Amino acid sequence: MNTRRQTDRENPIIRRLKADHRRFAHLIRHMEWTMARCRHGEGVDAETMKQFVAYCSEHADHHHHPLEDRLFACMVKREPGLATVVKRMESEHVQLHKATDRLDQLLGDMGRKHFVPRSEFLDALESYLALYHQHMLIEESELFARMEETLTAQDWEAVTAWLAEQSPSPFDDPHSHQYQTIERLLAR
Ligand SMILES: [Fe+2]
Repeated sequence: MNTRRQTDRENPIIRRLKADHRRFAHLIRHMEWTMARCRHGEGVDAETMKQFVAYCSEHADHHHHPLEDRLFACMVKREPGLATVVKRMESEHVQLHKATDRLDQLLGDMGRKHFVPRSEFLDALESYLALYHQHMLIEESELFARMEETLTAQDWEAVTAWLAEQSPSPFDDPHSHQYQTIERLLAR
């Protein structure tokens, strides 16, 4: 009962970030199963991998991380002691962006039948998923958990106004092909 009331009262932007993280975590689990099967000799599930990379590239790099960067910068202004963890998260966002581009490139090469050693691809993917997982845990425990108490009403207004000016993510639109594809994948 209390949990329900707390969830209802939760700031909608924090709720949105957490919903994104739940989806990322779900995708990461799917990818880990895919990798485990692949290491036991099954074929690479290129379709699942492409959807995962599309989600990370389109939604994470262009919508989720820029929103977090903005919110985290406001947190540092209000609480300078958070500067170290925020700097690390910002740097990991850049690192994840580059790693997503690299995976996209490798998948493209595999699709064009260029030789890519399977173990090399899977090792790179495994490190990437581990980084994503660890990154989200730190964001949730050290930043999301303190966001509501740290930011002022003025900060929330500024972020809400900025958000309204951004182009929407196709992964937030239930009618989009991208949204429906990822939901279908996650329901498997
Ligand atoms: Fe995040």
